[in-house]
Amino acid sequence: MAAFFLVLQLLLEYSSFSLAQSEPEPLQVPTSSRVYGPDGPWQAVSVQLGDPGQYMDLYPGSFYESNILTVQQCQNINANPCGSGGLFDPENSSTFDNTSITWTSPIGSSGTSALWTNGAMSFSFSNLTPIRDQLQIQGQIVANLSAEIYSDITMVYPDGNYPLQVGELALGPTVNQSFSDADAPSINASLIPGYLAAQNIIPSNSFGLHVGIGAEELKLELSLWLGGYDAFRIVGPVSTQSIQDGVGIIVNLLDIGIGVDHGGSPFSYSSQEGLLSSGNSSISSAGISVIMNPSSPYLNLPNSTCAAIAKDLPVTYNAGKALYFWNTTNPQYAKIVTSPTFLSFTFRNSSGGSLTIKAPFQLFNLTLQAPLASTPTPYFPCQPPQAPGGTYSLGRAFLQAAFIGSNWKKDQGEGEGEGYLAQAPGPNTDTTPQIKPIANSPPVGLISNWNDTWTGFWTALPNPITPALPTSTTPAAPEITSTPTSTLETDVLSGGAIAGIVIGGVCAALIAIGIGSFLFRRKRGGKPEAVQPTIELEDATKVSLHQPLRHWPSTEELIRELPAF
Ligand SMILES: *[C@@H]1O[C@H](CO)[C@@H](O)[C@H](O)[C@H]1NC(C)=O
Ligand SMILES: *[C@@H]1O[C@H](CO)[C@@H](O)[C@H](O)[C@H]1NC(C)=O
Ligand SMILES: *[C@@H]1O[C@H](CO)[C@@H](O)[C@H](O)[C@H]1NC(C)=O
Ligand SMILES: *[C@@H]1O[C@H](CO)[C@@H](O)[C@H](O)[C@H]1NC(C)=O
Ligand SMILES: *[C@@H]1O[C@H](CO)[C@@H](O)[C@H](O)[C@H]1NC(C)=O
Ligand SMILES: *[C@@H]1O[C@H](CO)[C@@H](O)[C@H](O)[C@H]1NC(C)=O
Ligand SMILES: *[C@@H]1O[C@H](CO)[C@@H](O)[C@H](O)[C@H]1NC(C)=O
Ligand SMILES: *[C@@H]1O[C@H](CO)[C@@H](O)[C@H](O)[C@H]1NC(C)=O
Ligand SMILES: *[C@@H]1O[C@H](CO)[C@@H](O)[C@H](O)[C@H]1NC(C)=O
Ligand SMILES: *[C@@H]1O[C@H](CO)[C@@H](O)[C@H](O)[C@H]1NC(C)=O
Ligand SMILES: *[C@@H]1O[C@H](CO)[C@@H](O)[C@H](O)[C@H]1NC(C)=O
Repeated sequence: MAAFFLVLQLLLEYSSFSLAQSEPEPLQVPTSSRVYGPDGPWQAVSVQLGDPGQYMDLYPGSFYESNILTVQQCQNINANPCGSGGLFDPENSSTFDNTSITWTSPIGSSGTSALWTNGAMSFSFSNLTPIRDQLQIQGQIVANLSAEIYSDITMVYPDGNYPLQVGELALGPTVNQSFSDADAPSINASLIPGYLAAQNIIPSNSFGLHVGIGAEELKLELSLWLGGYDAFRIVGPVSTQSIQDGVGIIVNLLDIGIGVDHGGSPFSYSSQEGLLSSGNSSISSAGISVIMNPSSPYLNLPNSTCAAIAKDLPVTYNAGKALYFWNTTNPQYAKIVTSPTFLSFTFRNSSGGSLTIKAPFQLFNLTLQAPLASTPTPYFPCQPPQAPGGTYSLGRAFLQAAFIGSNWKKDQGEGEGEGYLAQAPGPNTDTTPQIKPIANSPPVGLISNWNDTWTGFWTALPNPITPALPTSTTPAAPEITSTPTSTLETDVLSGGAIAGIVIGGVCAALIAIGIGSFLFRRKRGGKPEAVQPTIELEDATKVSLHQPLRHWPSTEELIRELPAF
């Protein structure tokens, strides 16, 4: 009898083993056990780099090289805290390879990194080295990972430089990133989901990400799956955007508004639209292009847009950080950041209609900490791009409220495919994941009612708190008798207010985005030597760029490649 059970057990183990071998399944990148700043709280993901693996927490981020801070970072920069997410010691890794990639520029160069955040933030560094090493995610190995190590990188703010705390894990787009130099054969380094899909470990070269909500009182765990997604992180329709040359998920932002889900409004109006272009005649109704940018902490929007959003908020602009600080003693502050009041972001969707993503102000009650601020300072995260010519981005502050993903489809060019954008739920969400593979069709969510996902986490304001109807004992003011209808409408705000936020009917065609050329050094497979991309200058002069490039593509070059509105 015992022998029978043993055989049965062995059979069961064998069958699940062989199943695991033959059936690729989405792989979760574990969430960090702690949150990070200095402008969060943000969650990160936990991986091991090198052999033996060195644990480190990284922000899920860009699309080619992962960006890693080394132990020298804290020897070179005197700061506290320093390298909170974990630092990499190349000397301790037997698989560390800093010699194969002979592509030399800009090793040793100092400058501003355009590529890390597409210029949303400005960094200063003087010793960048492209490397390869082994990465482990839950025991699954990515050999020859493409990474860049930094030993002295700081973030540049108007009032000074502050050391970076956490590196970055890249999420696409190809299997191999090829480096080539005129004098040497090309060398390949692996990119994460592509490598795992090529090894048949995950179902496709794709990812699904919700950065989650880091604040203790609103906590919703970060969700990053390779080859799949958690259907409980998607509310309502998913918009699909085509991606070219793996630059990232670029979406056409049409407008930003303010709205209230239910109850009273903290403002003198129940809703407002037109904030994106407010006070800036160079922003048309076609809006602007924005990159979904988990590398950036902020909403990196035109300064005029930040000013328009901030206009009715109890905030003070801080020029040293180019951010807005909440005035926590103003009674409006608590009303705004605890009530069902939200910013709405309206995007052009794949079929020319629109998709609106709502982000309650709770999510924008973020905190600057050391080394950015000596005491914890609540701030509102709107900031124009900081690197010269940097592109508009929606960073982690926004992505707390949004699901993004992409499928770097094989049947298209390497690094091409589609990106996904949808509303993410709030903290009142079942965190038991419902994992689905990303295959040939876009992800489909399981949640239909967004406001339910915030139930219990916001407090409606008395309805109405704005212009009260005169009672019979109040002498009627002339304005009120002349406009009785609008006064009444204020009273029944919610439904109409919300509907008003969703701007429909804008139907210009989806803009094809041709960012490609600046990624010249990141060759597609096959024939890297043949590529001599050109960068189109504003005066229509064409400059031919040979490989390898002797300088970083500047953010100015990068922005030129974005469609102009
Ligand atoms: C590297 O190894 C040295 C010596 O074993 C050890 O002191 C150090 O903590 C290790 N560094 C890391 C980052 O693991
Ligand atoms: C490669 O890394 C080793 C170990 O950190 C270091 O001693 C060496 O100087 C590095 N070489 C180059 C070319 O960066
Ligand atoms: C790493 O890349 C080299 C070629 O550059 C290759 O020879 C080696 O097999 C790769 N390692 C693994 C484990 O795939
Ligand atoms: C990626 O490069 C490695 C060598 O580093 C090679 O063995 C592998 O076939 C390449 N994969 C693809 C899909 O081209
Ligand atoms: C929540 O949203 C649904 C529709 O999405 C709406 O019918 C309902 O009234 C809303 N709940 C509240 C409390 O406003
Ligand atoms: C107005 O918008 C344009 C186009 O996005 C931008 O270049 C400019 O900086 C904006 N002006 C202000 C004051 O923000
Ligand atoms: C950005 O807007 C703020 C007001 O919101 C203003 O004080 C600041 O000077 C502006 N910055 C730039 C560079 O225009
Ligand atoms: C903050 O708000 C309070 C209350 O409205 C006001 O008295 C104070 O002047 C404000 N502080 C700043 C710096 O704006
Ligand atoms: C704003 O965020 C801070 C830090 O998470 C928190 O302590 C505070 O309670 C929040 N404020 C409100 C009014 O919810
Ligand atoms: C795009 O938006 C329109 C209207 O806003 C909607 O009817 C359509 O279903 C949406 N399509 C997608 C793919 O989101
Ligand atoms: C590098 O990868 C490309 C595909 O991206 C492949 O075509 C090429 O053969 C690989 N080169 C080497 C040396 O393995």
